[in-house]
Amino acid sequence: MAISRSLLFVLLVAVCAAYDNGQYDGPDEVELRLLEPAVVPDPVDGVSRWWYTPSQKAHIYRHKYPKNIEAQPRQGEDLRLPGDILPRLYTIRLLPFIEVGNWTTDGYVEIVVDCVISTVNISMNSLDLTIDLASVTVADVQTGNPIDVVNFIDEQSTRELITIQVSQPLTVGRQYRITMKFISILNALLAGFYRSSYVENGETKYLAVTQFEATDARRSFPCFDEPTMKANFTVTVGRPETWTSTSNMPLITTEPIVGMPGYVWDNYQTSVIMSSYLVAFMVSEFIGIPAEPGLSNVEFRIWARADARNLTDYSRDIGPRILEFFESFYNIDYPLPKQDMAAIPDFAAGAMENWGLITYREQYLLVDPNTATARAIQLAAVVSAHELAHQWFGNLVTMDWWNALWLNEGFASYMEYLGTDAVEPDFKMNDQFILENLQYVFGIDALETSRPINIEVNTPAEINSMFDAISYEKGSCVIRMCADFIGFETFQRGLTRYLNDNAYGNAGQDNLWAALQTQADSENVLLPATVKEIMDTWTFKMGFPLITVTRNYQTGGAIVTQNRFLLRKSNDTTDPIVYQWWVPLTYTSDYTQATKRDWLSVNEVSKTLTSLGAAANQWVIFNVDQQNYYRVAYDATNYELIRDQLIADHQRVSDNNRAQLLDDAFTLALIESIAYSEALDLTLYLKNERDYVPWHAVLSELNYIDIMLYNLVEFPNWKNYMTSIVEPYYTAIGFQETQADPHLIKYSRIDAMNWACRLGVADCVQNALSTYATLMSQPDNLAQIVSPNEKSTILRTAIENGGQAEYDFAFNQYKTKGDTSFLVAMCASKQASVLSGLLEMLLDPTSGILRSDVNLVFNNVANNPIGNEIALDFLINRWDDIQNALGSSFFGTWYRYVCTRQNTQAGLDKLIQLRDAHPVILGNSNSVKQGLETVESNIKWVSLNQGEIGTWLAGHQPAKNFEAIRQ
Ligand code: BES
Ligand code: ZN
Repeated sequence: MAISRSLLFVLLVAVCAAYDNGQYDGPDEVELRLLEPAVVPDPVDGVSRWWYTPSQKAHIYRHKYPKNIEAQPRQGEDLRLPGDILPRLYTIRLLPFIEVGNWTTDGYVEIVVDCVISTVNISMNSLDLTIDLASVTVADVQTGNPIDVVNFIDEQSTRELITIQVSQPLTVGRQYRITMKFISILNALLAGFYRSSYVENGETKYLAVTQFEATDARRSFPCFDEPTMKANFTVTVGRPETWTSTSNMPLITTEPIVGMPGYVWDNYQTSVIMSSYLVAFMVSEFIGIPAEPGLSNVEFRIWARADARNLTDYSRDIGPRILEFFESFYNIDYPLPKQDMAAIPDFAAGAMENWGLITYREQYLLVDPNTATARAIQLAAVVSAHELAHQWFGNLVTMDWWNALWLNEGFASYMEYLGTDAVEPDFKMNDQFILENLQYVFGIDALETSRPINIEVNTPAEINSMFDAISYEKGSCVIRMCADFIGFETFQRGLTRYLNDNAYGNAGQDNLWAALQTQADSENVLLPATVKEIMDTWTFKMGFPLITVTRNYQTGGAIVTQNRFLLRKSNDTTDPIVYQWWVPLTYTSDYTQATKRDWLSVNEVSKTLTSLGAAANQWVIFNVDQQNYYRVAYDATNYELIRDQLIADHQRVSDNNRAQLLDDAFTLALIESIAYSEALDLTLYLKNERDYVPWHAVLSELNYIDIMLYNLVEFPNWKNYMTSIVEPYYTAIGFQETQADPHLIKYSRIDAMNWACRLGVADCVQNALSTYATLMSQPDNLAQIVSPNEKSTILRTAIENGGQAEYDFAFNQYKTKGDTSFLVAMCASKQASVLSGLLEMLLDPTSGILRSDVNLVFNNVANNPIGNEIALDFLINRWDDIQNALGSSFFGTWYRYVCTRQNTQAGLDKLIQLRDAHPVILGNSNSVKQGLETVESNIKWVSLNQGEIGTWLAGHQPAKNFEAIRQ
């Protein structure tokens, strides 16, 4: 991910440089390279530390960073519209010339505005538009009388504004009609009304489509581009008569364009009242395929290039059904007559919720359920559910400014689980929430560099930086917590109230809290403070608490305390904020009984619960089902009681809480809050664990230990212990995937196989080798022979355990089919000579490894325990050759890749020496700093924990010696 981020950044800057005064003359291949999908998701830059667990969804967030397409930072300038003139109705006519060498749009806009404060200055947003000054008119709507325009102030290149100055002050309460003509660029920036392309039957085809959120409607037509300045929009777009167009609303008429034979205007119905960032239109040669009638009350179509017609079935089926679900969940009809969804070949975000015309990256709308991975299918459903949830939450009711973006995105990120669950109950989305959203964002929000959910933002760059894991994942977590303490059904009715109260308008979080409060009050839900008081602590403070529970086994009570949870504390913090929250406490000793509830107030660091309702020999678990946004630590006795329960019968503890216990315990051990032996004790029961959620949570934690112990004497005991817990999981699930397998069994198999094969479990290795042998004899039947879910493990295991023939076959498949999974697998070889050979190939343009894949190879070799030192030596010894062959842009990230597995003083010395040898390139690099920080943490971890873990492992060796059996 770090690569795709920085690559995208570099290219956007390059595009900007080529894009001057509205004239785009840059090379066309730039826009194509912009869109290359990341093959292997890397951790997000900046938080890619060893404790960070990348989300499985991480690769779809790569756009969530400041777009940086502006030439200058605009700090401190007043960028807001004054609000004295407000738009009511736009009539927009656009004629895009989707032709190489032209790439412009002829535009005309007419805006009926209300004057709410008298002024002579009519300001609106505009960016990179060439405005025909002679065409600018202002008239009184009622009388038709023109108002003289005396001046036109163009601040497009600084404040993204234009101001029309009129001769006399406009009168409060009257309406005016503003008109102007302009030309915009069908740019390659994936923002505004932009161009995209694809190849069909060997021919490059183009289309024009919009992406306006957050602040890019102004690139397409002059407008009041702020979310509260809602209006009706009447759109007309021109197109070649053999093409198609689509927009938010249904098409009403098509008419010839006078003077342009072969071109027509498509006139669209006037929209409902909405924000400018939701306006959308598209002109293309796409086909629109209707969903089966009867799945929903609205007309539903999927738009895609003709070649992809066969890939629309899945989305055509689930889309209308999810829409139906939301209508009933929100208890509000979908207000538009139709819903289109379009798959755009070049698209910056994952998908965009334009009202009535949702746009998608192709991979999230076009799926083949027969060949796609289980995860790809799930992602398609989740993305559709997310965007459809926005049709109410976001589109019908919109946040009043971008500081509250989390209301849109946090909510959609919560609702996507409910929407997906409604159509794919087998996906068990509610079980996945804690892995994908909660435990994932804990890793980010536990850093001092996190941010509060709601923060002031002004510039477009600041606004774009809000599209991050804090708005999305943390937002979804605090909403889920709120639903839990209010009660789900009360919460649901409160949402309907909020949406109805604010329909076609805007709202801030206070409006939401008020609606939930009214609902809670009307249903006699008792809370210790107002919803607003409680939720403000979660939205205006960054981070989250660690709740420490110290039981008193004599009294049956406990002391409960809250402290901000940080992965590392810096010594010199001057942060004046008191990190305390209104904490909903939930706990249980028996899941068949109602959950017990209490609160820690924002003013209490600690509190005594007089009775937990548990006997001295009974365990107590806090944060039931991990509905709340905090971690929990217990006293040693309670950990022992929990451990014993898990060993005796783990099903007595819910699967979410088993996952929570493991994730919390290993994170607490990492920061030295509890002993590793306590965390490891909780894994003893895993030989009986069969559920995906706890396994997935713990494996990502154990992975770090696995990396750290690799070179140490404890490793054989570690491997032996790991095999003793993983093998039963693998055996229960089995190697062979079947059609009938439930979704989470497929997910489990990915984890179990990955570990079993890595640990050398014979059945796994043999099956992988024989599957690979079959593939070698029928290389064109890959899809039939290898399940896409198992592909990477099978290929990797065959290379690890196979010989030259397996390797040669993989290289050949990569070269002839361009399938990078084979290349990644080659990097898993256990032979040092093979790995150094691979690195050498990066320097040789004729080696067969594409330049676009060099990063992938280096990363995977560096991640290979045997390759790590080889990769470091390659950097040290071949520096000049790397620079000559590939330039200097890779050094920083490669340096950091190498650091992940380094945990010795000798390694650190070598790395520092390398940095000092290249002060210009490495001296000031953030990647280098992060990398060295990682190595220092690793060394510290080893010195602190090697002995303790070693002793624990020695005391917990399985009766069966897996290491001996393997040999
Ligand atoms: N509103 C966003 C799209 C967006 C993202 C616009 C960033 C401008 C900047 C949309 O609803 C969204 O969140 N899309 C997600 C997909 C989703 C399933 C998480 C995305 O693009 O990652
Ligand atoms: Zn969204």
